[in-house]
Amino acid sequence: MTWENARIDKAKEIIEMYPQKRSALGPLLYLAQDKDGYISDDSIVEISRLIGITEVQVQSVASFYSMYKQEPTGKYLLSVCKSISCEISNSSNVIQKVKEFTNLSNNETDDEGLFTYESVECIGACGGAPAIQVNYETVEGLTPEKAVDLCKWLKEEQPKVVVADELQLKFGGTKSFDWAIEDNTGSSSPVPGFQTYEMQEEI
Ligand code: FES
Repeated sequence: MTWENARIDKAKEIIEMYPQKRSALGPLLYLAQDKDGYISDDSIVEISRLIGITEVQVQSVASFYSMYKQEPTGKYLLSVCKSISCEISNSSNVIQKVKEFTNLSNNETDDEGLFTYESVECIGACGGAPAIQVNYETVEGLTPEKAVDLCKWLKEEQPKVVVADELQLKFGGTKSFDWAIEDNTGSSSPVPGFQTYEMQEEI
């Protein structure tokens, strides 16, 4: 057993919520990712044991969805949109600048573990293209120059929590629309957790 007892208990609690154990696979992968920052081999074994499917079946789901990470990511995951609305709004220059600044290619993490770079398909902010996410917090209406400013700011300030509204205010431009609800939770991790990180109970 590689998961601590509290995590196993949490997993069992989640499994109880579903008529079939295997249906809990998605949430359990989040629980695994919350533990290590990615889906480790040990977690695949643990999940397979908990819900009674093969390790290959667990791995096939974990590797299909890009938000389940196969390797540790840097402190800041930079996801730059390369889809059509962003492409026609100059995202290629934003991508180039971010890659130049970080010196990273797609899906690479720097040696310090500060940045991971990935180019992604539409992140649902087409009206504010080009758009980028930092730890899944979205910034819209970026220029190549502002993208560099954003990377510099992250490197120098290294904020503990990244909040979309703050990023938008500092580095963004045109937005798709305004939710009119202030986002003050943000993300304190480059990978999504089963619950909002800031609100997550200690496991
Ligand atoms: S195409 Fe980039 S956010 Fe939709």
